[in-house]
Amino acid sequence: MLPHVVAVHNVTKSYASGAAQHEVLRGVSLSIGKGEIAAIVGASGAGKSTLLHIMGALDHPSAGSVEIGGRDLLTMPDAERAAFRNANVGFVFQFHHLLPEFSAAENIALPALIAGKSRSEAEARARALLELVHVAHRGDARPSELSGGEQQRVAVARALANEPQVVLADEPSGNLDEENADALHALLWSLAKERGQTFVIVTHDEGLAKRADALYRLHDGALARER
Ligand SMILES: Nc1ncnc2c1ncn2[C@@H]1O[C@H](COP(=O)(O)OP(=O)(O)OP(=O)(O)O)[C@@H](O)[C@H]1O
Ligand SMILES: [Mg+2]
Repeated sequence: MLPHVVAVHNVTKSYASGAAQHEVLRGVSLSIGKGEIAAIVGASGAGKSTLLHIMGALDHPSAGSVEIGGRDLLTMPDAERAAFRNANVGFVFQFHHLLPEFSAAENIALPALIAGKSRSEAEARARALLELVHVAHRGDARPSELSGGEQQRVAVARALANEPQVVLADEPSGNLDEENADALHALLWSLAKERGQTFVIVTHDEGLAKRADALYRLHDGALARER
């Protein structure tokens, strides 16, 4: 049997809160197969971003393990983890994290340049991605010159730059009007179903949660599968 593309085993995460511990995740497990779209819902502060960051090895769990494509990211040496993540994991941050000194197109081209692609290849890919997320006309603008929804779409395009196996997206349609949100969801579905990319999407969008292959709810530090 193929390994799950994403496999999270019994992850816990606590933060020190004065003398006490604030337990955000109390033993979370999930597995997602190739080409699947999993949605994670839950109240503000439930730990959704924390879980997504741990899945992408951007943060360490207190205990437990995470595998992407059958590889344990937590035990990899730092440089290997960074290269593996750049090639295999696309991350859409809740607050975009675009680089302010670079244009939208340059932000999208960066992951491909880091992966060793030529400048012309990376720029061509960035242009195609800008069109895919409907911001082609704003490619030369800096993030501060873009609307919240445009920044969000540029962040999605950047996450797709290296055609990663797995895309972890934190509220990717949170700032979008209905038309743009629908277009983005259609894009994610076509990438999952036609190219076999796997998506884990934190969302408050009920339409997206309904259409996902699997729906998880995070509550009181526990993750329950609802569908
Ligand atoms: N670095 C940190 N240090 C201490 N506590 C933290 C830290 N990061 C997050 N927390 C706490 O962990 C809990 C979960 O935060 P998280 O950002 O994962 O929530 P969320 O479900 O993504 O919420 P939202 O829907 O508002 O984005 C919150 O109570 C938050 O205050
Ligand atoms: Mg969050």
